[in-house]
Amino acid sequence: MELLKEKIRQEGIVLEGGVLKVDTFLNHQVDAGLMMAMGQAFAELFGEAGVTKIMTVESSGIAPAVMAAYLMSIPMVFARKRKSLTMQSDLYSEKIYSYTKQEESEVTVSKKFLEQGDRVLIIDDFLANGEAALGMARIAEHAGAEVAGIGIVIEKSFQAGRGKLIEHGYRVESLARIASLDGGVVTFV
Ligand code: G4P
Repeated sequence: MELLKEKIRQEGIVLEGGVLKVDTFLNHQVDAGLMMAMGQAFAELFGEAGVTKIMTVESSGIAPAVMAAYLMSIPMVFARKRKSLTMQSDLYSEKIYSYTKQEESEVTVSKKFLEQGDRVLIIDDFLANGEAALGMARIAEHAGAEVAGIGIVIEKSFQAGRGKLIEHGYRVESLARIASLDGGVVTFV
């Protein structure tokens, strides 16, 4: 997606440890027009995949996911990192380990929002080691749903995530694929 790549070139800041800071449009402040263009791209890529529900994990996956859901006229559900007051029981939960943050978190989705027979499109902001996407896929499969695909905004192709997801048999589509952040320079695949 050329618009996204241009935005990354102009506003992305490369931090130590192979981390890309994009808080001007994705991870803190949100560029709604760009999110809609991302939603459009996902809707086109997965338009023929029979998707019945979009799933993401809070917080930064929500903006692109909701735009795709709007354009595909299907619901979007986001996995929560903290249990809400009203979410007491009947939950699917999975532990997700973040190598980037070196911490484990538990994510939950209420059982009433995933059904057997659902075809789930998983959307997330970053793909690094693939743990968040795999955790969401486990939740979908526990519910008896099928993973129709995984849509990623920014893939760090120099990390293991894509390979792991492909190994599991999932279709992965990323809007921007970064080959390297070496020397503080963003190089796309
Ligand atoms: P993984 O799920 O692919 O294994 O990724 P990892 O554990 O390494 O990443 C954990 C968190 O760090 C995720 O956000 C992910 O989006 C984010 N992340 C990973 N690499 C980068 C990067 O290069 N730049 C930025 N900006 N974020 C990165 P999260 O904890 O779910 O945060 P949020 O969605 O609440 O913002």
